[in-house]
Amino acid sequence: MKAVTLHDLSAKKRAGEKFAVLTAYDSTFAHVASSAGVEVLLVGDSLGMVLQGENSTLPVTVEDMAYHTRAVAKGNQGALIMSDLPFMSYATLEQALESSAAIMRAGAHMVKLEGGMWLADTIKALSQQGVPVCAHLGLTPQSVNKLGGYKVQGRDNHAATQMLEDAKRLEEAGADILLLECVPTLLAAEITKNSNVPVIGIGAGHHTDAQVLVMHDMLGITPGRTAKFVKNFMAEATSIQGAIEKYVADVKSATFPDADHSFE
Ligand code: KIV
Repeated sequence: MKAVTLHDLSAKKRAGEKFAVLTAYDSTFAHVASSAGVEVLLVGDSLGMVLQGENSTLPVTVEDMAYHTRAVAKGNQGALIMSDLPFMSYATLEQALESSAAIMRAGAHMVKLEGGMWLADTIKALSQQGVPVCAHLGLTPQSVNKLGGYKVQGRDNHAATQMLEDAKRLEEAGADILLLECVPTLLAAEITKNSNVPVIGIGAGHHTDAQVLVMHDMLGITPGRTAKFVKNFMAEATSIQGAIEKYVADVKSATFPDADHSFE
């Protein structure tokens, strides 16, 4: 596959063509997912829960992220690699620049950070240093202790207006992509319509420009209960590659997510 660039993703948004994002934490799964047509591999700090067995993403370090990003970069077949800046690794501008340098040197093409308009200066500084940024809004798991749990965000008028303003401000600051997690479908649609940059959704309905899922969730191997927005694509597939290809096809045709996997 020809290497996917940020320009390709922006062109897809302009053309109304959806793209698929999936987490990957190692070389083999990065190879399988990118070969199956996934355009963006997310080395998410969800690896703290999925791989390390922690009960939140908070224990994940920059070293962990660099280690897994390096592995993903080796197996990747042309997808764009986005890696998370973990909890407290971008609390100051200096930390954000240092953490991003470590993760970009490990092979990421862009970093993702969680939060609202207070991150505008951080995003501007990273952008000026040549680091593309994805701003993660809505349910931001690094703030789970502040949010009081993994809950849908932006449900009332005040919170919805705030999220719309955050999205606008972060795009103006230089964010290249926005990601909305656990956001009501209509609010996510509004943010997507008002944004010039691609918007990725997870639990944010089918109007966003792209979808992301945690790979272990969509393969049905996550122990215990999964979130409402998770669909097990392995249920009707005969191989992991087949399940991921079906996910890619369903994202592109906007068949996934349906109302059962969204928050109205
Ligand atoms: O860490 C992660 O995997 C994420 C996704 C859930 C969006 O941030």
